[in-house]
Amino acid sequence: MKYLLGALCACAMATVYPALASAGTHESMGNVDNGRKIFLEGKGEAVPACQSCHGMDGLGNDDMGTPRLAYQVDTYILKQLKDFAADKRTDNTMGAMNDVAKALLEQDKKDVTAYVHTLKTPFMGSDLDGLRENDVEVGEAYKGEAIVKFGLPDHGVPACKSCHGFNGRSAGRMYPAIGGQRYQYIFNQLTAFRDGDRTNDFAGQMQAVAKQMTDDDIKNAAAFLTGAKPVAPGNPRAPVHM
Ligand code: HEC
Ligand code: HEC
Repeated sequence: MKYLLGALCACAMATVYPALASAGTHESMGNVDNGRKIFLEGKGEAVPACQSCHGMDGLGNDDMGTPRLAYQVDTYILKQLKDFAADKRTDNTMGAMNDVAKALLEQDKKDVTAYVHTLKTPFMGSDLDGLRENDVEVGEAYKGEAIVKFGLPDHGVPACKSCHGFNGRSAGRMYPAIGGQRYQYIFNQLTAFRDGDRTNDFAGQMQAVAKQMTDDDIKNAAAFLTGAKPVAPGNPRAPVHM
């Protein structure tokens, strides 16, 4: 264990940390009022209300496999909408997002992103006990915590925090918040990156990570991340070596 920690510290020091997570960064991206209308009511025949699948508060839904959009980096949301529209990413879960994104004008995408950025209902993570009762296989959060902080050097899985920041709270515009995301959605995306069903990640970074992960690694990481908090207790600033 001593040996292991020594090795891990060395790799943590080699990591480049961005100054501060910019999950909250707001680019004056679009018209919040138009975005709210699309989110709550949809647009014409082709765009159903986003809230019908992502929830009024944008907190997502495990039964549907939809992600939490609230608290996500705005540039990342916009990128995903563009990628769905261009068929660079496929909605593997409900088969809905590609048509939805195609039916949104470029400006609509910015507007709905700007509205999502205003959603701030606190979220405690997926109800893991409830999922277990529904026979969903849920991993072990304590094992997932080690993956997020240190990775699994014995089979080549890097620490998630080296790209996604402390507890997966996001690290800049490219690296989405994965902490506080829905369990089912994290599970689905890791599986999709691993199996080649999602390939829209920059330079294949996420596929390379997921290909090293076993089914148990994926379940364990998802079980920790869904409840992971963006700051450490008692330290509202950026804990770097935690
Ligand atoms: C019919 C249900 C449905 C509707 C309506 C819907 N979504 Fe989605 N959305 C999904 C599902 C399911 C996924 C996950 C896709 C996957 O697992 O591959 C998703 C994924 C996304 C993502 C990717 C998030 C991430 O973390 O990568 C964004 C952004 C998004 N939706 C935005 C929207 C917006 C904006 C609207 C309204 C204009 C909308 N969605 C309407 C079902 C829906
Ligand atoms: C080398 C950098 C890197 C590392 C390390 C990394 N990721 Fe990622 N990850 C990314 C990038 C880049 C994306 C965004 C892909 C895109 O732009 O569509 C991403 C996206 C994701 C997503 C999808 C988020 C969403 O909202 O759709 C999940 C889930 C995820 N990563 C989980 C993990 C986990 C778990 C680990 C640790 C085992 C990890 N990542 C380690 C780079 C990384």
